[in-house]
Amino acid sequence: MAKYRIAWLPGDGIGVEVMEAARIVLDKLALDAEYIHGDIGWEFWRTEGDALPQRTLDLLKTVDCGLFGAITSKPKAEAEAELIPELQGKGLMYRSPIVRLRQQLQLYYNQRPCKAYPGNPLNYRDNIDLVVFRENAEGLYSGVEFHPVEDDLREMMKKYAPALGNFDDVKGEDMAMTVRVVTMRGADRIIRRAFEYADKHGYPTVTLVEKPNVLRETSGMMRRVARAIAKEYPEIELWENNIDAQMMWMLKNPDQFGVMVTGNLFGDILSDLSAQLVGGLGFASSGNIGDDLAVFEPTHGSAPKYAGQYKVNPMAMLLTVKMMIEWLGETEMAATLEKAIADVIAEGKVRTYDMGGDSSTLDVARAVAERL
Ligand code: NAI
Ligand code: MG
Repeated sequence: MAKYRIAWLPGDGIGVEVMEAARIVLDKLALDAEYIHGDIGWEFWRTEGDALPQRTLDLLKTVDCGLFGAITSKPKAEAEAELIPELQGKGLMYRSPIVRLRQQLQLYYNQRPCKAYPGNPLNYRDNIDLVVFRENAEGLYSGVEFHPVEDDLREMMKKYAPALGNFDDVKGEDMAMTVRVVTMRGADRIIRRAFEYADKHGYPTVTLVEKPNVLRETSGMMRRVARAIAKEYPEIELWENNIDAQMMWMLKNPDQFGVMVTGNLFGDILSDLSAQLVGGLGFASSGNIGDDLAVFEPTHGSAPKYAGQYKVNPMAMLLTVKMMIEWLGETEMAATLEKAIADVIAEGKVRTYDMGGDSSTLDVARAVAERL
């Protein structure tokens, strides 16, 4: 029996192609793993009305971790129109399989490393080495939303939040609300993971990126928790920056930052900016991680424009594989893979279009595999 069981979730479009690239490298590394295919993506929405079938969720409960490519999603009307005739008009609702994975399997933090590998022509600057810890299961993406805002709800809320009275002249149907939910449990576990990571990998600081001067309750809770946890790590300095200021600092001095921790929406924004500083979507890897299960994925989507062409950069996926095997505990193997990736980037001979070359997705994977 193999040492690891890994759910293999290619999904749609270029997801399938970068997974093929991942497999070339994993096979060369000879990771002792069994890969079990799981259905996910647009085809299953169209034919079964569910982009994340129950059997895939069940599979994920039996494996060590999952590796996921990308999925396609489309706006409501288009999604409904593409359902097979038997499923039309049944009131089926498309829900993002990624968000569901994160919430239903309690993959409560999203880890996104962004490193400027020497020789990458897309680097914004050298010496960038960032790791974003984004809360993954609550915050403004909790799905607690209201429209219209009914009178009884408004009256009740006004008792506790008098500021709602400023909108008394607005009709309920002319108002929409999204609630930012932060829990002590959620704040504690994401911030703790960030400090543990900084400690283990020798980062001197952890930067909390929130907005407590305005979002007094939710960001305020994050700040209290961060300050308490920081006391357990006297070697690590806690920096606190507002999200808006952080955007400026990241462009001015990205090399000053290392581990950053933040909520779901701010983390979404912060990690896209971080990725762009080190080459963009072709280099952005991520892990959705819980207590004993994780699903790793490049952050890019299915890029329909390039699907079927084997043109896109597999580096994001290969760096995702590196994160996965590191999480599994294969630290040496992960370091070997990272070195091979860095060497291929530095050498500059095998490059996809985004880096100014014309190599294919699989050429890049083979070049990395050759160095292993
Ligand atoms: P996208 O990430 O699929 O692609 C946007 C553009 O980025 C591409 O056209 C391409 O120019 C570039 N790009 C993406 N990955 C690349 C790579 N590996 N190498 C080089 N260039 C790359 O985002 P888009 O176009 O907004 O969405 C397409 C579909 O993907 C939509 O259906 C969307 O809902 C879905 N999506 C899925 C995600 C996921 O599976 N986690 C995340 C984001 C979008
Ligand atoms: Mg995003």
